[in-house]
Amino acid sequence: MAGLRLHERKTLMALQGLGGKASVEDIAEKSGLAHAAVMRATLTLSTRNLVRVHERKWNVVTLNEEGGSYAQHGLPERRLLRALLGLGGEADVDEAAREAGLDAGLMPIALGWLKRKNWGVIKGEKCTLNVNTEPPLGDDEKLLAKIFEGRSIIVDDLSRELKEALNILKKRKLVDLEEKTYRELELTEEGWKTVKKGLEILEEVTQLTPELIISGRWKSVKLTRFDVAAPGPAVYPGKVHPLQQIIKRAREIFLEMGFTEIRGPLVETAFWNFDALFQPQDHPAREMMDTFYLANPQAGRLPSKRFVEAVAKTHEDGWVTGSKGWRYKWNPEEAKRLVLRTHTTAETIKYLAAHKKPPIKVFSVDRVYRNEQVTYKHLAEFHQIEGIVVDKRVTLRDLMGTLKTFYTKFGLEKIEFWPSYFPYTEPSAQAVAYHPRLKRWIELCGMGIFRPEVLAPVRVKCPVLAWGGGLERLAMIELGLDDIRLLYANNLGWLRRTPLCQ
Ligand code: PHE
Repeated sequence: MAGLRLHERKTLMALQGLGGKASVEDIAEKSGLAHAAVMRATLTLSTRNLVRVHERKWNVVTLNEEGGSYAQHGLPERRLLRALLGLGGEADVDEAAREAGLDAGLMPIALGWLKRKNWGVIKGEKCTLNVNTEPPLGDDEKLLAKIFEGRSIIVDDLSRELKEALNILKKRKLVDLEEKTYRELELTEEGWKTVKKGLEILEEVTQLTPELIISGRWKSVKLTRFDVAAPGPAVYPGKVHPLQQIIKRAREIFLEMGFTEIRGPLVETAFWNFDALFQPQDHPAREMMDTFYLANPQAGRLPSKRFVEAVAKTHEDGWVTGSKGWRYKWNPEEAKRLVLRTHTTAETIKYLAAHKKPPIKVFSVDRVYRNEQVTYKHLAEFHQIEGIVVDKRVTLRDLMGTLKTFYTKFGLEKIEFWPSYFPYTEPSAQAVAYHPRLKRWIELCGMGIFRPEVLAPVRVKCPVLAWGGGLERLAMIELGLDDIRLLYANNLGWLRRTPLCQ
């Protein structure tokens, strides 16, 4: 029949030879094809309505290692019984064990079952038989032998007695049960017509070799037709983790927009993480619950005295800024404490303290830590995207425009800016994006213009537009996740399914 490939024709012919109905295993044996080849051929043959596939599910029993060993050497109680018979029907437990060749681990089993089967009794150290000839094999032993011979058996094929025996073997944990699917093929009417017309078993060439071309034999051989639309096997090549891909993209977008990357250490003094950002020393974010403090070493070094004093003054009474400050006594010891940075704004302000000349456009994409309960939307260790724009006449509009450009490049469509609060910015806002699948707004980042109380000590004269936000949140939207923890779970299935981003 036109269009049938070699394996398909061989399968049909084997099926015909087996009377029109046979299991895949029998067809494989008869045709000499591999099981998988018959299965593949079956797929085509059944779509072309030449064969029908009957599927049946069976519970199949096999012996586990212990079961296999008992099948070969006998159940421990049987071995003990034989040893005792040889010793005259009564012996010390230890002696019987030695005679039977049973090790200490098997003796309790042997004794237990000897008693249960009523073959003998144990009194103190002595073991006495109730029988004086060997009792016939029990159903459990018959079944053990049967499974051992056939290597596996189908539960449904067992008699009622042997099914009961199977329960005992199951309880003794000697067998494994598995559900298997058996497939039987049957020629359809169409299939019978086809085989009756006669099928030619012509060797087909699946690969055109140089030799075939040179010899000119390619003109006479039959070349296999390929179904180019058939699904190929799934391939899972190594690839960069989805989160790393998103980090890379964030970097690229910043670079495209003319920003330069800055980085800093994971461990910072509270001075850079909080004080230089005008966060008062009794600010709730500084408490143990939110911040990881280092136990060893506990304290770091403060920057130049002049700068530290300016920060202290600003906290206490506003210094030259016209602000009233926080009105408390600033404590340098509190500022020296080492923390795992809670935001990358620590690096931003550090950078500003060293670079004051506009224009400045810098960013960071880096790790931060917060003492948070890990939930579907919170992690204790995550990444922040952060940036600043420093120039003479920049305004909040420029900040919103920059963020809109940034997140649009990321592929987000609905972005809004809502009012917010940060101790270091005025005005303050947050950017939010609409998550189409979750149907809710997701916070992207905090943003604002640095307050005079932040800028005066670092002696920056121009407005500083700043923002910072979670990268994993962005990844959630990008990857359509509703649980942030999946990003760190190394779930192989998810990693394989997640495509590379463009
Ligand atoms: N540092 C803030 C946070 O971690 C974000 C922010 C950065 C807000 C810069 C305003 C300006 O949430």
